[in-house]
Amino acid sequence: MASTGERKPYVTHYLEDDAVYSDAGKGERFADILARRISRRGALKAGAAGAAAATSLTGPRLRALGQDEPSFDPASLGFEPIALDAGDAVVVPPGYRAQPLLRWGDPITADAPDFALDGQTADAQARQFGYNCDWVAFLPLPDHTAASSDRGLLVVNHEYTNPELMFPGYLTPNPDYTAPASDDAPPDVPEFLTNPTQETVDIELEAHGLSVVEVRRGDDGAWAIVRDSEYNRRLTATTPMEISGPAAGADLMKTGEDESGTRVIGTLNNCAGGTTPWGTAVSGEENFQQYFANLGQLAEDDPVFASHDRFGIGPESSERRWEAFYPRFDVTQEPNEPFRFGWAVEFDPYDPTSTPKKRTALGRNKHEGHTSIVAPSGPVAIYSGDDSRFEYAYKFVTAGSFDPDNREANLDLLDEGTLYVARFNDDGTGEWLPLVQGEGELTEANGFASQADVLINTRFAADAVGATKMDRPEDFEANFVSGKVYLVCTNNSRRLLEDPDGADLAVNAANPRPENVHGHIIEITEDGNDHAATRFTWDPFILAGDPAQGSTYYAGFDTELVSPISAPDNITFDNAGNLWISTDGNALGANDGLFAAPTEGDERGWVRQFFSAVPGGEVSGPVFNPDNSALFLSVQHPGEGGSIDDPLSLWPDGEDGPGVPRPSVVVVTSETDPTAPIGAAPAVPASPVASPEA
Ligand code: FEO
Ligand code: CA
Ligand code: CA
Ligand code: CA
Repeated sequence: MASTGERKPYVTHYLEDDAVYSDAGKGERFADILARRISRRGALKAGAAGAAAATSLTGPRLRALGQDEPSFDPASLGFEPIALDAGDAVVVPPGYRAQPLLRWGDPITADAPDFALDGQTADAQARQFGYNCDWVAFLPLPDHTAASSDRGLLVVNHEYTNPELMFPGYLTPNPDYTAPASDDAPPDVPEFLTNPTQETVDIELEAHGLSVVEVRRGDDGAWAIVRDSEYNRRLTATTPMEISGPAAGADLMKTGEDESGTRVIGTLNNCAGGTTPWGTAVSGEENFQQYFANLGQLAEDDPVFASHDRFGIGPESSERRWEAFYPRFDVTQEPNEPFRFGWAVEFDPYDPTSTPKKRTALGRNKHEGHTSIVAPSGPVAIYSGDDSRFEYAYKFVTAGSFDPDNREANLDLLDEGTLYVARFNDDGTGEWLPLVQGEGELTEANGFASQADVLINTRFAADAVGATKMDRPEDFEANFVSGKVYLVCTNNSRRLLEDPDGADLAVNAANPRPENVHGHIIEITEDGNDHAATRFTWDPFILAGDPAQGSTYYAGFDTELVSPISAPDNITFDNAGNLWISTDGNALGANDGLFAAPTEGDERGWVRQFFSAVPGGEVSGPVFNPDNSALFLSVQHPGEGGSIDDPLSLWPDGEDGPGVPRPSVVVVTSETDPTAPIGAAPAVPASPVASPEA
């Protein structure tokens, strides 16, 4: 069985997500809302000649990087779905092969040492694959316009570290611990003490960030990394970066180490990301609050208190205790340092010497997503979620236009533009509300004296303009075939049926289920299919969960035929526009996985499971190479909830390995033809699978 909710975790720094699960959402209001929304969709459909056919998008680089024409029809998603699984091995459908390609600690530069659990150093980690691989991008070589599918750069985020699974001796029994009276009662003190040292902290800093690694498909069809590639590099929590855009140089961005407010050391908690049409990577800094300590020692009327408190910086020492080694993580020492995290970080993987830039124009929050699409009129839209309960969904539209003929001209497009936040109306319409200083409520009198104030305190600005509080919005991505945009809300166990305090925590049409433990996906159609538009319509696409247990919706598809999905988190699209969904925190008593569903046609909403991960792990960052013959994804934090002495998983190395699980990027290919598109057709003669009525 899965770890979640069944064991007490050894450490808790990763538990800001929904860690407590209850029954599937329920409530009369949900049914009413859904019925109304679906009948509206039916009416809209009747008036359009099919959504895919109706699209008029022809802008440059509308399709994802290097994508060719659709290589197969959505109706031919033909793999045999697997079942939910709880074992300590990854599972794919018959006819497919899943190969761990990059494991934590693997050397990624020619001069890097091999992984050794007992021989770790910060210097080695800085040249090895980092911990907790998350978002993955495939950028073709030799440049971003290439159509190569057998050679490219993988850009991979390393969200955070699990020191209890990295360092033997990191945990020791707490002599003051006594077992609580009941399983439900929290213990007075933790059962284990953590023992960070200068050495472990320095290794953790280097295990964060990103990796760039060249990969190739060999003549034998197997994928491997290219150790001596000039592109291979690590960005870590100690890599110098620039701060750019409207908040660069603002007083709140200045610290003792950086009086200019324009330079920052490192990036932290890089979660979901996206690529741009000009071939750069944009990585989101998510739960940065966990690295900072001692907010309780600042006065509540301190000018920085409310902002740090909104992000959840803790009152006392942090669990990681980095502040004991680096004072910048102590807000009593450097009260502004947290303002330098929580940004979208852009860098150029094709230039190994490029300096990453934190793009403040995109706002500051727990960033996720950042996939971009060129609007027909020329500007670029970048969609992004702020992954906390009751936070918001955002879109940034560049002021300048994308120039497909001049790459250099695009490299700072993300410094100027308009940041919008979404309001979802109950009638299925919606608005993008601009977060512009001086407009509406965003005035000096309300605490927004400059655009830097708006961007540094994006959450407060979004509150002020009346945006819709969502159920942990994470990945947010345009389907490059239809132009429709999909917003993934992972879950929110605290969503209320009614909110007597008037704090907008009650269900609304876009977040229709109280105690939403299984999450949902919303489908957005921008006005005129123009991604620079300020109005849109929206529909529920999936209300996740086991249809047998409660209120679910699979885009109208017969729920008796679907693979139940829970906690959708990251998405990607194949060349036919099918939606591929990975999960984080499956609340159906099994491991997380990857699922696929057509978004158009008779099989729209037919969710089928393609991949299953291992206990304690989530699946993140799914992405295809240009011809869809390889699917890359991360198995993040395998074995989380266990410890080295009490392991929950030993994947991928098993009993003969180093005795710890290792977060890894996996590549999935056809077993018989490494050039065949993934999921396109049964790779083996299909056994009878449920089929919808014609
Ligand atoms: Fe790092 Fe929102 O998942
Ligand atoms: Ca995630
Ligand atoms: Ca994605
Ligand atoms: Ca997650």
